[in-house]
Amino acid sequence: MTAAVQTAPATSASPAETILSVNNIEVIYDHVILVLKGVSLAVPRGGIVALLGANGAGKTTTLKAISNLLRAERGEVTKGTIVFDGERVDRLSPNELVRRGCIQVLEGRHCFGHLTIEENLLTGAFTRRDGNAAIKRDLERIYEFFPRLRQRRTSMAGYTSGGEQQMCAIGRAMMSRPKMILLDEPSMGLAPQIVEEIFEIVNKLNASENVSFLLAEQNTNMALKYATYGYILETGRVVMDGPAKMLRENEDVKEFYLGVAEGNRRSFREVKSYKRRKRWLA
Ligand SMILES: Nc1ncnc2c1ncn2[C@@H]1O[C@H](COP(=O)(O)OP(=O)(O)O)[C@@H](O)[C@H]1O
Ligand SMILES: [Mg+2]
Repeated sequence: MTAAVQTAPATSASPAETILSVNNIEVIYDHVILVLKGVSLAVPRGGIVALLGANGAGKTTTLKAISNLLRAERGEVTKGTIVFDGERVDRLSPNELVRRGCIQVLEGRHCFGHLTIEENLLTGAFTRRDGNAAIKRDLERIYEFFPRLRQRRTSMAGYTSGGEQQMCAIGRAMMSRPKMILLDEPSMGLAPQIVEEIFEIVNKLNASENVSFLLAEQNTNMALKYATYGYILETGRVVMDGPAKMLRENEDVKEFYLGVAEGNRRSFREVKSYKRRKRWLA
């Protein structure tokens, strides 16, 4: 395939099949710093889609544009549209979006360190209006997905491990009963075994609770194992997208993102790949 195809599959598909579509958005920080330069992507209802790219590519900015958390960073969506569950959402507040079923789990986990794991989970229910009994039931359900959190329910979050804090952050998001979670770099700083455990839980939440995920990751290998479709961002643009299987087998992706170039790294192939990369950046 050619590297620069941008066939965002679902921007034209019906809202019944597409839960989220981001259409050609531009984001500017501080009125002058252009960071996203026309990003489009789509997440099918019930899907797991990966947003890949190196540090600084624009993954977090894309997620915050969707969840409307950019304003707090002096950032602004200056072009394009964002449609969630059949409705334009680019002018909503973050809370209104959570009420509609879309919530972000921030990079770096962000638990309240001085609250217990259970208290942290309960803060996730703050937009709900369906009463304590329903909230208690959901808490039990969360503990079934995250047995480690049940064990640690009375521990102060600040004293739990990085993996437990990441689970707590995802569990707290689940307490808002989301249709979709925007998950920002859950693997960051965690041991591979814990990362795998977390991704397995994400997979279960997706399959049994029908939660859709947009998963920002630098860990391309792990993300493409669980996502069905992926987008690769470089300096604020989607440079490649496709089904996860296709991305895993693509030579450029292998070379630049999976770190498994075929054969000798000093081969002619590497030079060719470098030129190809130059072409996709053009
Ligand atoms: N609040 C901000 N103000 C100005 N520039 C920012 C801000 N946040 C991020 N950036 C810049 O935007 C670019 C993309 O950052 P980010 O979205 O955090 O990338 P990623 O999540 O892929 O690492 C980077 O060049 C970063 O320096
Ligand atoms: Mg980031």
